[in-house]
Amino acid sequence: MTSRKGLAVADEPTDRWWCSAVIYQIYVRSFADGNGDGIGDLDGVRARLGYLADLGVDALWFTPWFPSPMADGGYDVADYRDVAPMFGTLADAEKLIDEAHASGVRIIIDVVPNHCSNEHPWFQRALAAAPGSPERELFWFRPGLGENGELPPNNWASIFGGQAWTRTTNDDGTPGEWYLHLFDSAQPDFNWNSPLVRNEFEDILRFWFDRGVDGIRIDSAALLIKDNDLADADLTGGPGAGHAYADRDGVHDVYRSWRRVADEYPNRALIGEIWLPDTERFARYLRSDELHVAFNFDFLCCAWDADLLRSVVDVTMAAHRPVGAPATWVLSNHDVVRHVTRYGRADTSFDMADRRIGTPSDLALGERRARAAAMLTLALPGGAYIYQGEEFGLAEVEDLPDDVRQDPFWSRSDHTEPGRDGCRVPLPWSGSQPPFGFSGDGAAAPWLPQPPSWADRTMRAQAARPDSMLTLYREALRLRRAQPELGDGPMSWLPTEPGVLAFTRGAGGFACVVNVSGAPTTLPAGELLLASDPLVDGQLPPDTAAWVRIF
Ligand code: GLC
Ligand code: CA
Repeated sequence: MTSRKGLAVADEPTDRWWCSAVIYQIYVRSFADGNGDGIGDLDGVRARLGYLADLGVDALWFTPWFPSPMADGGYDVADYRDVAPMFGTLADAEKLIDEAHASGVRIIIDVVPNHCSNEHPWFQRALAAAPGSPERELFWFRPGLGENGELPPNNWASIFGGQAWTRTTNDDGTPGEWYLHLFDSAQPDFNWNSPLVRNEFEDILRFWFDRGVDGIRIDSAALLIKDNDLADADLTGGPGAGHAYADRDGVHDVYRSWRRVADEYPNRALIGEIWLPDTERFARYLRSDELHVAFNFDFLCCAWDADLLRSVVDVTMAAHRPVGAPATWVLSNHDVVRHVTRYGRADTSFDMADRRIGTPSDLALGERRARAAAMLTLALPGGAYIYQGEEFGLAEVEDLPDDVRQDPFWSRSDHTEPGRDGCRVPLPWSGSQPPFGFSGDGAAAPWLPQPPSWADRTMRAQAARPDSMLTLYREALRLRRAQPELGDGPMSWLPTEPGVLAFTRGAGGFACVVNVSGAPTTLPAGELLLASDPLVDGQLPPDTAAWVRIF
């Protein structure tokens, strides 16, 4: 077969790049603004491709760049085959893909199959159509309960807070049916029983694969299939076969068909966003005829504690082994509290249900741990993710004024849960005051205000400092490429003192030691390749990691 551009792609060998790739996540709105309107865009990214290639990442994952009313930062998609005007054009995306490929960097886009925007033409047509019509069959429309249909069809709650149902209004102004939305009311859920929905998404995958996209990150991947009876949910039960919508068995058929589409192209990867407590059920998504990889949220949520970290690593490796899929390691993304802030708190775990915004955090300690955690992440077997700005050591912006907050978590929680805007603040690139080179001179203010204290966090300021977070990431990524044992492959734990994690990679010539204890520890004999902070008297101090080539 040939791609849209006429390349003979069928002959390219499969290199399984996703098994070892370091993937950099770009939250497009906040990465770099090319046209001065205060909103990040694809031109801004294109201008920074050199930076990204030099940093040493293998692929870029773009959060949704499709046309969207932005009720949920673009996770409310109005057209899956185009680019939002605020970000650029489809031609800009094609240029970006080609230019990234020319620098040896792959492109992953974010496809949102659970729901679309309420402005998507299919939903607009469904609203205009009658109850029971084929148009409404593409979503979950139901009459309400109660004498006049004034109660929602069941007790399901929105993940963002409030009910999972919104009532429609008929043309004559009378109240109509309700529709289901697991997230915001502007994000109606698709009905995946419909063959039209299934065909549409297979076609969307082909549309982007034909444009050279190397991978698809699948949003909310475990939520697609609902209990057809829409029975009241048992709110005490966890996800799984009996859950109303999370991780129902039928979802695997969807990914088997997506895998068949991906396999029509060489070297394409499907990456699931799958939050599940049961690692055995999580691994089912990674069977050889389903997804290639999935995010490891247990690692992301894990406290800075040697025993807990070690156990997450062991459980992760044990879960992936039987299905032959590579593990992934991720510390931050656009949905969670930036890990510099998390690691500086008394409780260093992450919990989506309580983000603990405003909890005291020792940011110097958090940064020290974040440096060590980066080296741990990049030394473990499998792929690794970097969320934009973590290479600058950015902390969560916890003091955003309430009137700039945009996350539906904020509005739907009656302003009790501040939401995720604090990890989405536009990046600081250069200069000593906002917008820190995010936009050019004379531009509109960034869509979320940057803290003035970011003056020493800019890319420019950090590039010049040998002890900066950016220098550490660059050095670690350079070494990761140069050390043959890193990326996919075997690991073995080394015996250590309590509170210390140490393991070798490959045949044992490379070791990573992470001191999570309160006391200095001794490194194995060998050549010190990199340490997240200086050794003290030849020993690895607390909250520090080292890579050693063992003699
Ligand atoms: C995923 C995204 C998140 C979004 C949600 C609904 O969890 O990462 O940002 O709000 O899905 O699409
Ligand atoms: Ca812009």
